[in-house]
Amino acid sequence: MAIALRFQILVLAFCASLFIPTSAYGHPGLHKEHAALFIFGDSLFDVGNNDYINTSTNFQANFSPYGETFFGYSTGRFSNGRLIPDIIAEYAELPLIPPYLQPGLHNYTYGVNFASAGAGVLAETHQGFVIDLKTQRSYFKKVVKQLRHKLGHAEAFTFLSDAVYLFSVGGNDYFYQFQTNSSFFESHSPEQYVGMVVGNLTKVIKEIYKKGGRKFGITSLPPIGCVPFARATKPGNTGTCVEELNALAELHNTVLSEALLKLKGKLQGLKYSYPDIYTYLNGVFNDPSNYGFKEGKTACCGSGPYRGILSCGGKRGVTDYQLCDNVTEYVFFDSVHPTERVYQKVSELWWRHSPNVTGSYINLKELFEVDLLI
Ligand SMILES: *[C@@H]1O[C@H](CO)[C@@H](O)[C@H](O)[C@H]1NC(C)=O
Ligand SMILES: *[C@@H]1O[C@H](CO)[C@@H](O)[C@H](O)[C@H]1NC(C)=O
Ligand SMILES: *[C@@H]1O[C@H](CO)[C@@H](O)[C@H](O)[C@H]1NC(C)=O
Ligand SMILES: *[C@@H]1O[C@H](CO)[C@@H](O)[C@H](O)[C@H]1NC(C)=O
Ligand SMILES: *[C@@H]1O[C@H](CO)[C@@H](O)[C@H](O)[C@H]1NC(C)=O
Ligand SMILES: *[C@@H]1O[C@H](CO)[C@@H](O)[C@H](O)[C@H]1NC(C)=O
Repeated sequence: MAIALRFQILVLAFCASLFIPTSAYGHPGLHKEHAALFIFGDSLFDVGNNDYINTSTNFQANFSPYGETFFGYSTGRFSNGRLIPDIIAEYAELPLIPPYLQPGLHNYTYGVNFASAGAGVLAETHQGFVIDLKTQRSYFKKVVKQLRHKLGHAEAFTFLSDAVYLFSVGGNDYFYQFQTNSSFFESHSPEQYVGMVVGNLTKVIKEIYKKGGRKFGITSLPPIGCVPFARATKPGNTGTCVEELNALAELHNTVLSEALLKLKGKLQGLKYSYPDIYTYLNGVFNDPSNYGFKEGKTACCGSGPYRGILSCGGKRGVTDYQLCDNVTEYVFFDSVHPTERVYQKVSELWWRHSPNVTGSYINLKELFEVDLLI
């Protein structure tokens, strides 16, 4: 394996400054305090929870060369650097939000991250290897209990109402079924299956609402059939996207968008930001040069056609893998996950969109700033 980790420099000073909260505490007249950030979902948002569970290395990224471009070492993040929640935290002037399972963590002043790589909405997805969404919800309930104990019910409710809840979940529910072709999937139509995924997701949102949560940022699914892993499954290595997977993602996005609108009608004060990541990333994946990338099909790190085998780091059974020289040119870091540069572009759009791009009437910046008491 030829490794040229030229891209892993310079970032540490920058990184350290992120740990110092530049909060508006002590600036009366601005905000009383910063809104906390609670994060749920899968590998797109997992900042290291899976480092602390008994699972397979397929669901872990706590080894070289993951994380090295930004952090200088691996953290459990499935990318060369930061993920969307890290970048959003920076925009919101919050420190990096730590993984819930990190030992010794008892302070939720800025929120906490429950996401787990490989997790789906449905308990059946990678069962036994991941923290599924229901379990993430149960961890959240424990946090709520501690907050109530510390702050009292009323103040905890206010704290939870000011907080922003970010979700990236669903992709694995479709990937998993695509890979395993399970009888569970075969016995449901795509509409029924998507209905269960979205039904269980909205259930979790409702439960958080009951505890006080009002501000939700939920990503739509990207064109998951265009990741190198999926492209590599096409017979003859033609490298085209797997349209069945993209169709499921699109169906999911439509059904979720309708479900959220319905929820907003029912739950007073609910606000959400639901960016159309699909359209944007479809552009990036299929016309990378238009977005400043050189390579959109082949991953920076992995093996096999399009480096579509999830072998980055050589710790997942397959020990042989290739690593690109210049990660800046790549859309995908490993066979499934984008590079930090892609995450930066998506985060920027989500934070301060034009409404056209996000397809919803509120962006994340507004979501953080909106005062629900007015
Ligand atoms: C971890 O999981 C493996 C396989 O499922 C099992 O054999 C092992 O006992 C588990 N270890 C712990 C500490 O739970
Ligand atoms: C939690 O951390 C914040 C910021 O570091 C600090 O202001 C606060 O006092 C801490 N709370 C507890 C209970 O330790
Ligand atoms: C999945 O399984 C069904 C039978 O349960 C079979 O008809 C179908 O061809 C399989 N699909 C794939 C992609 O293997
Ligand atoms: C949630 O998912 C389960 C399968 O894990 C399914 O049986 C159930 O009907 C789903 N619930 C909703 C509300 O869709
Ligand atoms: C990496 O690629 C970017 C974008 O093409 C380019 O600007 C940069 O100079 C390259 N870095 C190196 C070390 O070649
Ligand atoms: C926004 O969308 C409308 C209708 O789809 C289009 O006419 C307009 O040019 C778009 N604006 C931007 C800034 O893309």
